[in-house]
Parts: sequence; C-alpha cells; structure tokens
Amino acid sequence: MKILVTGAAGFIGSQLCERLLQTGNHHVIGIDGLINEKKIRLRNLTHLIEYDESRFQFYPINLLQADLNQLLQDVDVVYHLAGMPGVRSSWGNDFNFYVENNILATQKLLEACRGRSLKKFIYISTSSVYGEKKGRVPESSLPQPLSPYGVSKLTGEYLCKVYYKNEGIPIVILRYFTVYGPRQRPDMAFHRFIRKIMEGQPVPVYGDGKQTRDFTYISDCVEGTASVLEADHVIGETINIGGLERASVLDILSILKDLTGQPVQTVFAGEPKGEPKHTWADTRKAKKLLNYQPKVSLKTGLKHEIADLKLLYKEKVE
Ligand SMILES: NC(=O)c1ccc[n+]([C@@H]2O[C@H](COP(=O)([O-])OP(=O)(O)OC[C@H]3O[C@@H](n4cnc5c(N)ncnc54)[C@H](O)[C@@H]3O)[C@@H](O)[C@H]2O)c1
Repeated sequence: MKILVTGAAGFIGSQLCERLLQTGNHHVIGIDGLINEKKIRLRNLTHLIEYDESRFQFYPINLLQADLNQLLQDVDVVYHLAGMPGVRSSWGNDFNFYVENNILATQKLLEACRGRSLKKFIYISTSSVYGEKKGRVPESSLPQPLSPYGVSKLTGEYLCKVYYKNEGIPIVILRYFTVYGPRQRPDMAFHRFIRKIMEGQPVPVYGDGKQTRDFTYISDCVEGTASVLEADHVIGETINIGGLERASVLDILSILKDLTGQPVQTVFAGEPKGEPKHTWADTRKAKKLLNYQPKVSLKTGLKHEIADLKLLYKEKVE
C-alpha cells in the first residue's frame, strides 16, 4: 500500500512510519514541516532515512504550503498526525498556531483528498476533547474540551465528519490518551521529570500531583494505530487508544525515583489551566474493532524512556 503520514518527524509519527515499514511491504511518504525543535525532529528520522526511496520518502514541508495533489497521487491511506500538540501553550496569542496547524491544515488536507479513491483517512485526535469525565470514558461521551488545544483538535474531528458525510472521505478518528516512551516531546511531563531528575534539579509539579492519567506506551499506541490499516468496519468510527495502566503524577515520581536510584525533589508549580483532573479510556471499542490490547507496564515503559533520554542528552540534541 502507498501510505502518506503527516507529522512523520514527530514523536509518534516517526515511530508509526518505522512500524509500517518493518511489518508490511508498504511505500510510506512522510511529510513534516519541522515546526519547532528541529534537531529533535531530525533525530526522530534517523532510522527512516536509511530506507531506500522506493520504501520511504520524506518531504520537509508544511501542509499549508505543500502541493498536496502531487503528494497524494496514488496514495491508498492517509495517517494525519501533523499538528500542534500541548494543552498549556494553547492559550493566548499562540492559539494562532493551533488554528493554523490543527484546523486549517486538516481542512486543506481533507479538501485535497476529495474525489480520490482513498481506502482510509485516519485522523489522530486526543483525550483532551472529552474534558472532565468520571470513570472510564467511552467514545459516545459528550466532548467538552477544557483547553483551546482540545477545541482545535475537536474542530479537526468535526471537519473530518463533514468531509465524510459530504464527500465520502473514509475517515477513522483515533483518540490517543497521553502517550509516553522514547522520543517523547520535551514539553511533556515524563520527559521534563526525567530531565530534571538527571540534572539533580527539583521537579515542577502542577496541581497537587494527585491528578491521574491513562498513560499509553508508544509501542502500544503505534500498534493500535497501524492495525487500523487492515481493520474492517472502522470507517466513520471514533476509537479510544488508551494504555495498560493509570497513575497519578506522584505515583510516576515514585517509580522514577526507584528506576533512577536518585532522590526526587518536587516544587509546586501552580494550578494547571485547561487540564482535567483525571483521564481514563474505555478501550472496549478498540478491542472489538482493532483487537487492541495494550501490553507495556509503566515500569517497563519508563525504563525505556529514561534510557532514550540519557542518550539524547549525551548527544546534546536540543
Ligand atoms: N503525544 C501525545 O500524548 C498525544 C496525545 C493525544 C493526541 N496526540 C496527537 O498526536 C499527534 C502527534 O503528536 P506528537 O506527540 O507526536 O507531536 P509532535 O509535535 O512530536 O509531532 C507532530 C509533528 O507535526 C509536525 N507539524 C505540525 N504542524 C504541521 C504542518 N502544518 N505541516 C506539516 N507538519 C506539521 C511537527 O513538525 C511535528 O513533527 C498530534 O496530532 C497530537 O495532537 C498526541
């Protein structure tokens, strides 16, 4: 199959491309605007650029400026991961970046897909569309985002649905729950915690640290995402991709203390804005439609992330 992956130099996109290339005889086209953190994004591409051009091609371009008609030629499946992630930075003037990269770029891509014989258009969304919910959250739960980021990703979902209904674009929406592991973005909590611990600095903790998240290890997330390729009965569906374990921030710091063997000092960093107290995925639909079964424990996953960050900061890639 010929597969277009947007956001191919990102934390998740780069590992999805690797997984698609390793397990199928696919031709993958990666697009990424290398929006920020350019060195880290180029590092994410290290294994991909070893592939022959007949298997992997990379275009360092912004979707908003790209000639999408050319890039979409003969493409069977689109994985749309490109976007501006992060809840905290989505307030204020920076919301412009979220509008451009999460809303306008998605609309431009959908528009370019009109009239093509695509098999699937897979839009990557987020648990942030739900807002504050109690217990395991099913896909049918009313979306009530608490942050501008969540609003921008939900708008992307609605655009997909509009193009599905009116243009027949075969969309599938995946809602990821906090993904972690090697290559995790520097703005994400585990990355920041591990870096501070390695530097012997106090770890800033937002809120009281008792907030919990459904944490999804990268290989589980990528496995679930890749499985959409071959899955039947998924067109038009929205599917949660959650992890094996939930934990609080304080639980995570305690695991990191054990794994690093270093003391962990914390410093209160104020109340977070726009973040729910708890997230918890109901993954029964993913199990039914994708045979999705997360496998990696927090302890194992964090061990891999620590090892990757040790290498990253030894290489001084920042
Ligand atoms: N990491 C998570 O825990 C998480 C959770 C829920 C949803 N998501 C979603 O998953 C996707 C990937 O997230 P990530 O953590 O890998 O982020 P990331 O920032 O590492 O990857 C996103 C990539 O998209 C690229 N990009 C952004 N706008 C672009 C544009 N207009 N044109 C071309 N490229 C563009 C960036 O350069 C970046 O490399 C995002 O859509 C995000 O909203 C991530």
